[in-house]
Amino acid sequence: MRKICVVGVGYVGLVTGTCFADLGHQVICVDVDETKIARLRQGIMPIYEPGLEEMVRRNAQANRLDFTTSYEEGLAEAEFAFIAVGTPQGSGGEADLQYVRSAAERIAQAMVQPLIIVNKSTVPIGTGDWVADIVRRHQKQPMEFWVVSNPEFLREGSAISDFMYPDRIVLGSLDAEAAAQVAQLYLSLRAPIMITDLRTAEMIKYASNAFLATRISFINEISSICEALGADVKEVAIGMGYDKRIGPHFLDAGIGYGGSCFPKDVQALAHMAAVHGCHPQLLRAVMDINRDQRRQVVHKLRELLGTLDEKVIGILGLAFKPNTDDMRESPAIEVIHLLQSEGAIIRAYDPVAMVNADIYLHDVTLCQDVYKVAEGADALVIITDWNEFKHLSLSKIKEAMRRPIMVDGRNIYDPQVMRNLGFVYRGVGRGYSD
Ligand code: UDX
Ligand code: UDX
Repeated sequence: MRKICVVGVGYVGLVTGTCFADLGHQVICVDVDETKIARLRQGIMPIYEPGLEEMVRRNAQANRLDFTTSYEEGLAEAEFAFIAVGTPQGSGGEADLQYVRSAAERIAQAMVQPLIIVNKSTVPIGTGDWVADIVRRHQKQPMEFWVVSNPEFLREGSAISDFMYPDRIVLGSLDAEAAAQVAQLYLSLRAPIMITDLRTAEMIKYASNAFLATRISFINEISSICEALGADVKEVAIGMGYDKRIGPHFLDAGIGYGGSCFPKDVQALAHMAAVHGCHPQLLRAVMDINRDQRRQVVHKLRELLGTLDEKVIGILGLAFKPNTDDMRESPAIEVIHLLQSEGAIIRAYDPVAMVNADIYLHDVTLCQDVYKVAEGADALVIITDWNEFKHLSLSKIKEAMRRPIMVDGRNIYDPQVMRNLGFVYRGVGRGYSD
């Protein structure tokens, strides 16, 4: 059992802290957001993540997990301090490190014993060195510390199983012993542990996210070609995926990637590359294709409805993916804004993300279920591939709609089945010969 402090209790920090506690470590989480901390101390979750609430409660009751706004309390006994604060996108596309700076300064001022400081947030290459410099300059008195990069690869919606069953643990540090100490924390997971230098570990995170985003934009580009030539992108992806060199994962064509990671990480990597004289052509293309995917949905609706002015469009799904309430960079936001800019009237439903709708949307009628969204609608658009959308009563939906038009941004339905039911159906990269 080791003593761990996690700074920043967002999607990554809360899951990381709770899972370490569940592995038997003593964890205290620090966050500047007083309301979030007060609610967590009452067992109220700030986010929707399957399995998290129960795990937080169980570990808090076992006195292995606690929450505070005080860095002093958080670091009083800590051997490790994990930084998991936000690194949002800056105005030029760079990663904004103001919160990492503030966390590093506060850790330096509050630390009372030698400490291993672990960067868990996604930070540009070189940030580990920069954090070490900040800590050195802000300590009240010189004290030993080491900086380790330990990027997270967890996905929202499956964060706990991604933590507990990782494909690999990546650790980067100038000090092999410090990296080995962090490796010890994960030993019971029996996963491959890769130890490298700081900058390489930081780059592994960006390259991994950028490659996954590239796979998505690749299959989305293929989907446009499939539309033009009458092939079925879903079958194409299956055929490609049999090849072990390609593999089946992250080849789901659709409305494009969203979320708190891919959009900002691809942008930040392209920015880093450009600032250092490289030409990130591929990364730029990945972002361009992703942006176009949202516009294609609006284009298809315009094609099917003529004008969008005064048309009632139903949106199914607001979260950027299923099993999360997170709407950050969700495709729904841009699609709805584009539709509203052409005079469309928007109704929407999401199983859990509607609590966050007001942050991003205006003049959208939020409905209590899919059938309410369909009532009198001129068209429906599927944005998020929630399981509950895969088993809807389509005849009931068709009856409720003004026109049986569906644009399926996630290819969850079969074009022929939809046609047989009397829908005018458009998928992404399939279903066009009406
Ligand atoms: C974070 C990073 O943003 C991202 O780069 C990385 O890939 C994963 O970890 P996430 O957990 O989704 O992402 O961030 P967010 O949900 O925004 O949580 C950040 C938390 O840090 C918030 O609770 C915020 O209140 C807290 N915070 C922020 C601090 O405690 N101190 C600060 O100075 C700033
Ligand atoms: C991602 C990475 O997967 C994870 O390793 C990293 O730590 C954080 O960023 P996350 O953003 O939670 O995780 O979601 P992910 O499941 O990767 O999906 C990202 C986006 O890509 C979603 O909008 C999803 O709908 C989309 N996607 C994913 C596709 O459009 N097609 C696919 O085949 C897979």
